Amino acid sequence: MSKYYHITTYGCQMNVHESEKIAGILSSLGYENCDNIEDADIAVFNTCCIRENAENHAFGNIGMLKKLKAKKKGMIIAVGGCLTQQIGKADILHDKFPYVDIIFGTHNLGKLKEYVIKKQSQKKSVIEVLESEGEISENEKPLRTSYPNAWINITYGCNNFCTYCIVPYVRGRERSRKSEDIINEAKELISLGYKELTLLGQNVNSYANGTDDITFPELLKKIANLDGKFRLRFMTSHPKDFSEELAKVIAENPKICNAVHLPVQSGSDRILKAMNRRYTSADYLKKVEILKKYVPDCTITTDLIVGFPTESDEDFNDTLSLVKEVGFSSAFTFVYSKREGTVAAKMDGQIPEEVSKKRIMQLISLVNSQTREQSAEYVGKTIEILCEGYDDKKQMYLGRDEYGRMAYFYSDTDVVGEFLNVKIESASGISLTGTLV
Ligand code: 5AD
Ligand code: SF4
Repeated sequence: MSKYYHITTYGCQMNVHESEKIAGILSSLGYENCDNIEDADIAVFNTCCIRENAENHAFGNIGMLKKLKAKKKGMIIAVGGCLTQQIGKADILHDKFPYVDIIFGTHNLGKLKEYVIKKQSQKKSVIEVLESEGEISENEKPLRTSYPNAWINITYGCNNFCTYCIVPYVRGRERSRKSEDIINEAKELISLGYKELTLLGQNVNSYANGTDDITFPELLKKIANLDGKFRLRFMTSHPKDFSEELAKVIAENPKICNAVHLPVQSGSDRILKAMNRRYTSADYLKKVEILKKYVPDCTITTDLIVGFPTESDEDFNDTLSLVKEVGFSSAFTFVYSKREGTVAAKMDGQIPEEVSKKRIMQLISLVNSQTREQSAEYVGKTIEILCEGYDDKKQMYLGRDEYGRMAYFYSDTDVVGEFLNVKIESASGISLTGTLV
């Protein structure tokens, strides 16, 4: 009889890829994926704690499983990810949800197989969260779910300690995979037919820092030189480490997409300093200028936080001005979320919710207007799309161009994974609609 797993993922791309590794582990134990959690023999929650709402969301969903677990006694519930990695959170989870069978952290994902086997033969919950990040494990083979796109971890953890951010505490110090392992993974993915590779790290620019391995631009160049038609992307770049050499490598290698995600967080120098970002708005603009000098058509996307402690109207206006000046093609916008244990959590001048709400609405409206303007410029143009899937609701295929812009189109045949030329006929907000040519 088949056994099924279900994974609920919260948070960022890093977590999405980690869920693919969890899926790989569970399938090696004979489990198959199911879409409905009620059918699962093992339900895994891969959590995120970067903002309070992601954390609350996970807590809510785990709580909702109580009834199902009471009906399905043999079902295994496992909780892992950033949330469990916070000091004391595993105990809180265990007290609140005693029916959770396995609790593991970000540093011991690879031991999930062992934990499941252990749980199958004992009544007691298996709880293990390691404090230390340990060595990078190359043993977890992801079960990829996003063909034709594939993610490749290049670094884990972060050393930057931005004052608002919990990531360095839950993901540990920055460690880099060996370039040889990364390049071999890229080669294998290309040979399997993957068409878009995205290199992942909290700060890819500091890849291999302090080791004698190759630098990030050299790594990009080596992967871009592999045979085959594919696109290469990377995220995330910290502006302080974004170099002229990297801009040149993007310019010289057509397989590297002319689209860079460069989180700025704020346009106010005072707030940037309080965030410990280690650049000013002028430094950021200088990086943008260098990038545009070598790659004039490069689109830039960003992350922005409003309502950081002590942010004044003037600081917020500086953010609006910077957004206009750079002309971001889109942005992830966040309301500052106080994270216990970070430096900013202890700062005076926390901003009232209604002020942050007003600011984020204003910011979203500005970003959206820029996105719309840039979308409108596509109308009448023919662009190369990598088809990523089929939208059942619209009954259209969809894909993105190298700048990351989504386009929908009709096709009589299955074209997922193909590069196609699409003539854009209309634009609505962030997405485009066109016909195959
Ligand atoms: N509150 C709001 N946004 C945050 N981010 C990280 N920590 C916080 C926080 N405490 C955002 C940053 C980062 C992105 C991944 O999440 O913008 O770039
Ligand atoms: Fe968090 Fe800053 Fe590290 Fe990004 S660079 S993960 S925002 S500490």
